[in-house]
Amino acid sequence: MTGRFITLEGGDGAGKTTQAELLSAWLGELGRTVVRTREPGGTDLGLRIREIVLHERGHIAPRAEALLYAADRAHHVETVVRPAIARDDVVLQDRYIDSSVAYQGVARGLGAEQIRSVSDWAADGLVPDLTILLDLDVTVGRARVAAARGDTFDRLESEAETFHESVRQAFLAMAAAEPERFLVVDASRSTADVQREIRAAVTPLVVDAA
Ligand code: TYD
Repeated sequence: MTGRFITLEGGDGAGKTTQAELLSAWLGELGRTVVRTREPGGTDLGLRIREIVLHERGHIAPRAEALLYAADRAHHVETVVRPAIARDDVVLQDRYIDSSVAYQGVARGLGAEQIRSVSDWAADGLVPDLTILLDLDVTVGRARVAAARGDTFDRLESEAETFHESVRQAFLAMAAAEPERFLVVDASRSTADVQREIRAAVTPLVVDAA
């Protein structure tokens, strides 16, 4: 068994949490130890950072926001993700560097390359074995979040539709640039169909070749 690092990306309402839960249960049945985690907020320190980036009432300078995500990531990768991979666990993580590139780099306009380089530095170069991009029409995704939560959006979710559209296009561009790392899944289909496609892509990573 080899330690694996699998990330889930996509806009709000694309179903990352639901799909990760189903995938985690299946990996457990295969006998793999799974570490389910997320950014921001995968550690105690990260939970405090998450509270600031998602719920701070006043303005946060975009560069400060980017560095808060990077600080969360640096601590999380070193204390949770790398140790789990070293134990040969499967790390299943909601959001990673691609979210920073899409939200801060592209949608906030800080520059995709700069944010990728700050994020890579924070993570000391850790790259996922597989990134599952759940791709969904922005209006549909936001309607799902509103239906589930009764219209209470956090700081990022409250951004205009054009912000979320540029996030979506940024993710698709990253997937096109790195097709060997990304699986792009049409998240408008049923939960079961999406999960089936994800399992097919994950199988070769988690089952011993022997
Ligand atoms: P998420 O945990 O998916 O939110 P929720 O649990 O409410 O669905 O993500 C929180 C928000 O943080 C999301 O809107 C995207 C944003 N985000 C960034 O802007 N940059 C980042 O680097 C990360 C990891 C998340």
